[in-house]
Amino acid sequence: MANNPENSFVLRTKDVFLSFGAVTAADNLNIEVSAGELVGIVGANGSGKTTFLNLITGYLKPEHGSILVMGQETTGMPPRLVTKLGVARSFQVPQLYTNLSVHESMLLSLAAESGKGGGFWKPLHRDPWEQQGMETLERFGLETYADRPVSELPGGGRKLLDIALSFALKPKLLLMDEPTSGVSVENKFQVMDTLVNVLKESDITTIFVEHDMEVVQRYGRRVLAFDNGSVIADGEPEHVLADPEVRTAVLGRV
Ligand SMILES: Nc1ncnc2c1ncn2[C@@H]1O[C@H](COP(=O)(O)OP(=O)(O)O)[C@@H](O)[C@H]1O
Ligand SMILES: [Mg+2]
Repeated sequence: MANNPENSFVLRTKDVFLSFGAVTAADNLNIEVSAGELVGIVGANGSGKTTFLNLITGYLKPEHGSILVMGQETTGMPPRLVTKLGVARSFQVPQLYTNLSVHESMLLSLAAESGKGGGFWKPLHRDPWEQQGMETLERFGLETYADRPVSELPGGGRKLLDIALSFALKPKLLLMDEPTSGVSVENKFQVMDTLVNVLKESDITTIFVEHDMEVVQRYGRRVLAFDNGSVIADGEPEHVLADPEVRTAVLGRV
């Protein structure tokens, strides 16, 4: 297996194309991400960032092209099976049940993943998930909120919890859509510091969409700039964010 080049990439897309009517949301994307990378994606509104995440997770199917996760073809696979391969994602607006406690949310997520959600609610508390859940909350600095309802978490805490729920599933590839959107300016670096530290201690390959250039510059090791469904630059943040084409497309100014 080691000499099969397909397997050296956690993610590989080949000529992935998808349009919505007249809008080309993925324009023959050829993207390769290796194990352990932390990749930021920037791009103006509507440039295809979320579509890219939806294609990887199986929520959208490309019209042509192929997607490989750890060397395995996932094109057209339903999201549930892509998740099983080790792909997890967090959302721009966290999909949380605000009435549950933070710890219960974690248990529900772990239970849902193992196919034992719903009616299994009561026995959940006795499961090994209990410990796995608490450990994850501690890593994300959320343990003091464990018994409080999700609705009491500050904005940054909700984003961290949403990501912690994905992280607890021990994915190989973690996708995050705008981890700092909706987080106050004072808290966004704290959220990213926590995230990056947790990720550093794991070997999870991560792709994050980010509209905030300061965040991308500070935390990304590699940045992809999207414009009209295409990658117009790919490299170190300093280079990509200094590129006049990127500045015009992403920031609307040079
Ligand atoms: N389900 C959909 N139906 C129709 N158009 C869509 C759909 N999803 C995305 N689009 C369009 O595709 C383009 C890319 O959208 P999106 O990937 O959400 O952009 P971004 O996340 O970069 O803001 C936009 O023009 C958007 O309106
Ligand atoms: Mg988006």
